[in-house]
Parts: sequence; C-alpha cells; structure tokens
Amino acid sequence: MEYRHLGNTGLQLSAIGLGCMGMNHAYGIPNDTASIATLEASIEWGINFWDTADMYASGKNEELISKVLKPNRQKIIIATKFGFYNDAAGKLCLDGSPAYIKKSVEASLRRLQTDVIDLYYAHRIDPKIPVEETVGAMADLVKEGKVRFLGLSEASPNSIKRATAIHPIAALQSEYSILSRDVASEILPLCETLNISLVAFSPLSRGLMSHKVLASQLSQNDFRLKLPRYQGAYALNNQKLIDEFALIAAAKQCSPAQLAIAWVLSKSNKIIPIPGTKNVHYLKENLGALQVQMNASDFDQIERLMKRYPNVGDRYNETFNQFVDEN
Ligand SMILES: NC(=O)c1ccc[n+]([C@@H]2O[C@H](COP(=O)([O-])OP(=O)(O)OC[C@H]3O[C@@H](n4cnc5c(N)ncnc54)[C@H](OP(=O)(O)O)[C@@H]3O)[C@@H](O)[C@H]2O)c1
Repeated sequence: MEYRHLGNTGLQLSAIGLGCMGMNHAYGIPNDTASIATLEASIEWGINFWDTADMYASGKNEELISKVLKPNRQKIIIATKFGFYNDAAGKLCLDGSPAYIKKSVEASLRRLQTDVIDLYYAHRIDPKIPVEETVGAMADLVKEGKVRFLGLSEASPNSIKRATAIHPIAALQSEYSILSRDVASEILPLCETLNISLVAFSPLSRGLMSHKVLASQLSQNDFRLKLPRYQGAYALNNQKLIDEFALIAAAKQCSPAQLAIAWVLSKSNKIIPIPGTKNVHYLKENLGALQVQMNASDFDQIERLMKRYPNVGDRYNETFNQFVDEN
C-alpha cells in the first residue's frame, strides 16, 4: 500500500480510501453480507481510511460499518460527517449550528461504537451560520477528545480560509473525477498551499467511469437516476465517452475504473480518492489503480475525449445544487 499524509496531522492514510455510502444508501440494493466482506478485505489489503456520514441511510451506514470497525478500531482512520437531515416532510435540510453539532457527534459516536471520531467533517457549509461558529463548535469537540481532526466538505475557497483561521483543517472532501473538475483551478492549489488533504469523492463519477454502471440497469430507487448525467442526451453523451475511455484503458492494459482512479491520484499527492463499493472484487480492482503509471499521452487522449463529448451534464440536480457554498 502507498500512503499519503492527512494534512499536517502526521497521520498516514492509505492512498486509496474506502467510500462506504453506497453500501446501504443511494446506490441500488443493499447487501450487508457483501459490504461486511468488503470492509474486512479492505483492512486485509492495507486500506486504513473509511468514509461515512450520519445522513447515509439515516445513521444505518455508520451502524453497519461499526460491526467491522469495533473489532479493528486501531487499524482504521474513521471519517464521518454531520449537517444534513430530512425534516418531518422528508425535505433535505442542513444545519451547521453549534447545538446541532453537539447533538450529532454523540449520535455518530454511539452508532459507530467508538469513543473518538478521527476526522469529522461539516458535510456542507450552512449559509445561515457563520463558518467561524460551525468550526468553533467543531474545535470544541477536539478539546473534549470526541474528535481528533476536522474537515469540510464541498466548501468554497473563502470558507476554507475563514475556517482555517479558527482551527486547522486536515481535509477537504469534494467531488473530483475526470468528469467533475470544479476543484481543479482554485481549490486544489489552495489545499496544497494550506497543507489540506483533498479527499476526492466519487472518483469514478458515481460509477460511470467504470464502464459497468449503466443508467439502463439501475434499480428504480437508485439516486443516480435523479442526476443529469444519467438522463437523456447527457446519458447518451456519457455512454459514448465511456465506451471510448474503455478503449484507452484497454490499450494500457488496465480497467476503466483503474485508469479513472489513477487519473485522480496523479493530479496531486495531496489527493486521497475514496472510491465507493460494496463488492470485494471491485475493491481489488480499484486498488490496482496504484500500479497504473500515467503518462503525457494518456492525459492527452483523455482531454481529447472530453472535447469530443463535452455534454456530460451537471454533477448534481437542483436539490443538491442549492447547497453549493457561495461564501
Ligand atoms: N461529501 C459528499 O457530499 C459526498 C458525496 C458523495 C459521496 N461521498 C463519499 O464518497 C464515497 C465515494 O463516492 P461514490 O460512492 O460516488 O464513488 P464512486 O467510486 O465514484 O462510485 C461508486 C459506484 O461505482 C461502483 N464501482 C466502484 N468500483 C467499481 C468497479 N471497479 N467496477 C464497477 N463499478 C464500480 C459502485 O458499485 P457497487 O456499489 O455495486 O460496489 C458504486 O455504484 C462515498 O461512498 C461517500 O462515502 C461524499
């Protein structure tokens, strides 16, 4: 296993972490037996960084992974997040207030069956609360020993700077993949300057880049069907893009998923991608990305491909776009 630093904390994270969301939230039909086998295999293969959130399956994601976390607590750096919840009418809401944080951390600790969270993220920046107040309350949790290090997810450059003035931020978790590059121009350089790890979520663009996740085969309740990239003309554009991407990967004798993850890894040694899976064989395949050497011709072919098929669609729909940090 290759390791990368978690910000300036001194902790070493496996260069590829494990995203646990899809084990029982948002993507298809849960399979706890397969998920537990995947969590166990990840430890065996040197992964020491798992990612979850309190909102995933309304807490059941944290409960599921606690079954493997508890007996292996010293081997895993566990990251979870607070902020999102559904109100009584089922509407998605965000709360970054100190009172909500204090309540949320206790619930996550209980569900994870641990007495400390290694990395605690604000899932989004709440526009109703000054980021200084949110991070100040998170910093109190560090003082109380409930949390070791702090992170933000999908924060703007301005929020990141304001947050770091209150307490060191170890990681920013944001979407980064061949199809989702919003962070490349400003946020990644800022993370490099401030020595903040960029934890890249959805490095396979929610499975698309694997060439195995097809819109036509998703179950009716799969969250991805609500996203532009899986709909209409965008889905057609993306299918052609990925068919050709698979040819580039084949010529390199790797899988499309491996090439997509290697692309993300190659963008900076501050990046730790967290591909998500509940399948042992996908996990093994994804770890093979560490053996893929990217060269100038690979980058060039991928850029030309993106220019041929530019209509990839937005990464989020309106429900989630309303939570984009505009600070
Ligand atoms: N901070 C945020 O707002 C935010 C948002 C989204 C996600 N996240 C975190 O980031 C993690 C990763 O995001 P993601 O799950 O969207 O990542 P992803 O790796 O881009 O996509 C996961 C999807 O790809 C499939 N997959 C993974 N490896 C594969 C392979 N080798 N071949 C074929 N299919 C493969 C998975 O299938 P199976 O499920 O069938 O294994 C799953 O459907 C999440 O688990 C979550 O912890 C955070």
